[in-house]
Amino acid sequence: MKISVIGVGYLGAVHAASMAELGHDVIGLDIDAPRVQRLTAGEAPFHEPGFAALLRRGLDSGRLRFTTDHDELADADAHFLGLGTPQRADGFGADLSALHAAVDALATVLSRRGGTPTIVVGKSTVPAGTARDLAVRLEQVPGVRLLWNPEFLREGYAVRDTLSPDRLVYGVRHPESSGADGQAGDGQRAGAEGDASGSSELEVGMLDAIYAPLLEAGVTRLVMGFEAAELVKVSANAFLATKISFINAIAELCEATGADVTDVAGALGMDDRIGGKFLRAGVGFGGGCLPKDIRALIAGAEDLGLGQSVGFLREVDAINQRRRVRVVEMAREMLGPLRGRRITVLGAAFKPDSDDVRDSPALEIASRLMAAGAQVTVTDPEALENARHHVEGLVTVADTAEALRGAELVMLLTEWRRYRDLHPAEAAALVAAPRIIDGRTVLDPRAWREAGWDLRALGRPGDP
Ligand code: UGA
Repeated sequence: MKISVIGVGYLGAVHAASMAELGHDVIGLDIDAPRVQRLTAGEAPFHEPGFAALLRRGLDSGRLRFTTDHDELADADAHFLGLGTPQRADGFGADLSALHAAVDALATVLSRRGGTPTIVVGKSTVPAGTARDLAVRLEQVPGVRLLWNPEFLREGYAVRDTLSPDRLVYGVRHPESSGADGQAGDGQRAGAEGDASGSSELEVGMLDAIYAPLLEAGVTRLVMGFEAAELVKVSANAFLATKISFINAIAELCEATGADVTDVAGALGMDDRIGGKFLRAGVGFGGGCLPKDIRALIAGAEDLGLGQSVGFLREVDAINQRRRVRVVEMAREMLGPLRGRRITVLGAAFKPDSDDVRDSPALEIASRLMAAGAQVTVTDPEALENARHHVEGLVTVADTAEALRGAELVMLLTEWRRYRDLHPAEAAALVAAPRIIDGRTVLDPRAWREAGWDLRALGRPGDP
């Protein structure tokens, strides 16, 4: 099938390359010409395990290409919208301007197709109600139908999550008449004559045809209304954020009582109604999604007069912010006044296996330490360039040993494998004083203390 992906940022680029991998003929469009050039040259514009190889395979096969020219989209039968919906400048709510601009440009191209069945598939994270608005605009064009197919990929696992997702969610205008059985589809309905007015069967069949290899491999697809599909996405992220803040709130109690939050989380997670994932206490969640999505969900609920329904999410956000402040206090408890003290921060990305520094706890904490007058050195395997753009005057060192040399305090804030695997005795030989704060509860306190380190961790008891 001929497919376009509009907006080849993180989500769109991974989706485009993954769809080429499934055998489709894919064109990725972006208004960012340098990005299009880089992708065309087979260069990954971000760090994501497995993506560069997938991109090159797609380009070499001739099934994947990139453009800035909307006219090149005209012969595609399906168009995925992968545009970003960043937080608005006022701090709340999603900025949908890129999405609207893309839909307007696309509608012009589609109006020249003479009614040929075409689907537009939204993948961006949007407030409930967005798809219905866009459908009004798009479905004025004969033959065009919209679906909302949210994306649940995680950075660091983006390729795996796209090619073997936990589930596929299709939001459609008429879920009750979609011809869907709620189970994996047969992928055979593409191009079927659909009822253009009151049924969603045609668009569901076309999307099934695109995802046929996934459906055949047993991935469940769920068909529902537009608003439900939009809400699945934001509520999934809100739930994950809540889980993290929940354990971080318990970490605050652990700090006050001398309990170890990793003991509590380990035992909690064994209840399979709770599950062990996303219960790792520490400096909390960051990135381009979780923080922005909870704030957008709050804003959307308030617009509906339902602020109270999601009022707890304000607390989820507040707990998350508090952890960043707390870890700086911990540094003060260990060092006294921070002015002039040499602190090494391990990690800049918002999480390991990513070079993304958006709303990164590590960088915000580094900035707070700098503001308090500390001499901060930040190291990270992949994110230093982005980090320097993000924080003015940031001192960065790529090599871990060099970064550790002379430190009076080390703070592990992003749990890259190489930091988790640091050898306590070898690290002790490099620093000026063996003090460490484990901001991600990943180090073995006993091993580090035995090697002479003064180790503190969020939510874990101090030196016995
Ligand atoms: C998140 C969701 O997990 C994806 O399902 C979703 O598709 C994506 O947002 C999105 O909306 O695009 P991502 O932002 O890549 O994915 O990162 P996560 O793996 O969810 O981690 C988010 C943050 O939570 C990181 O800063 C991480 O360090 C932190 N975290 C995670 C914890 O502090 N504790 C945990 O136990 C787990």
